[in-house]
Amino acid sequence: MPNSISIYSPGRVNIIGEHTDYNKGLVLPGAVDKSCKIDIVLSSNPQAFSIHSKNLNQIVEWNVVDPIPETQWCTAIFSLIRDMTLKHTNIKGVEITLDSNIPIGGGMSSSSAILCGVAHGLFAMFEIFIEPLAEVQYCQQIEEAFSGVRGGIMDQLACYFGKKDHVIFLDCGSLEFEYIPWKPIGYQLYLINTHVSHELANSEYNKRREECESALEILQQHIPELDSFSQLTLDQLAAHVFHLSAVQFKRCRHVITENQRVLDTIKAMEKDDFSKLGRHLNASHQSLRDDYEVSCPELDFLSDKLNAQRGIAGCRMMGGGFGGCTLVLAENASFTDFSLVASAYRKQFGIDLSVYEVSISDGLFACDTHRNG
Ligand code: GLA
Repeated sequence: MPNSISIYSPGRVNIIGEHTDYNKGLVLPGAVDKSCKIDIVLSSNPQAFSIHSKNLNQIVEWNVVDPIPETQWCTAIFSLIRDMTLKHTNIKGVEITLDSNIPIGGGMSSSSAILCGVAHGLFAMFEIFIEPLAEVQYCQQIEEAFSGVRGGIMDQLACYFGKKDHVIFLDCGSLEFEYIPWKPIGYQLYLINTHVSHELANSEYNKRREECESALEILQQHIPELDSFSQLTLDQLAAHVFHLSAVQFKRCRHVITENQRVLDTIKAMEKDDFSKLGRHLNASHQSLRDDYEVSCPELDFLSDKLNAQRGIAGCRMMGGGFGGCTLVLAENASFTDFSLVASAYRKQFGIDLSVYEVSISDGLFACDTHRNG
């Protein structure tokens, strides 16, 4: 058994396919070139666990017989460890050091990266073999239980299975996926952090999920063979408009059109047509804003200002919404910088934007495994 292990666990972006994962729909995420390095070393006391955050310059210790410390940044990690130690009694005390360059609250799922990395590291260190997809599902369940947000599987799956210069075309119904080359020659992806996170984000997220679930149940009464929105056309939806509330109808329309946009985006990628891909990003934003209603004034302002700028192929809000990040595809030849947009945003909201250049990278991997003797 190794007595130490290091894991690199990346954040993720999602090119397109938003709020489709928990609707058994299509998504197109990838891991990014920003990750958390997680060093795990066997501790001398089998009951003692500690987490050291280099970014926060803090160490929190916990003995398995005690309640989990309620220090905000590490409670989820200790909850994961407690669950793992209850299920796998051969897991013993470790000292964990986290060193991350994934911007916190930057919309790249930094928390999924840490939880997936710690889980993977402990499974590897204590030689517990779990099928990779089962490991992904386990991490997703833990995150859902801890956060109370009934999230989908996209973030954790992208963190595990990411591949450099490829995006993951994932069918969240079957969990089958394939890699599609991501070579946007002449274009660059950016993430812009709005630095707002509206309080209703978690409750509204769960509400959207419930609205979709209840709409699907109603539709299934009329179309018994219907398993998910992926099998539904806009014409079929229109035929059942009177069975749904106006809100349910809009939520369904978003999911159906967003699934189609994922397919259209892949077609555009195959033809290296990144200006068309940009238009799909804009259409996705509009649908998330108008039909799914998960945008906010800051994200909409950004999207309008960005699209008025030369060299922007397209942009859209990314992730759960109500704040967080905007994904931007810019054309290198004509794009200059974000300074105009940043100053307009500062003038409107009094907030400084953060801009991150991102490229698509490998998913999590282990290195530096040391064995005794
Ligand atoms: C959050 C969730 C994901 C996904 C997105 C919306 O990031 O964690 O599972 O549902 O929102 O697409």
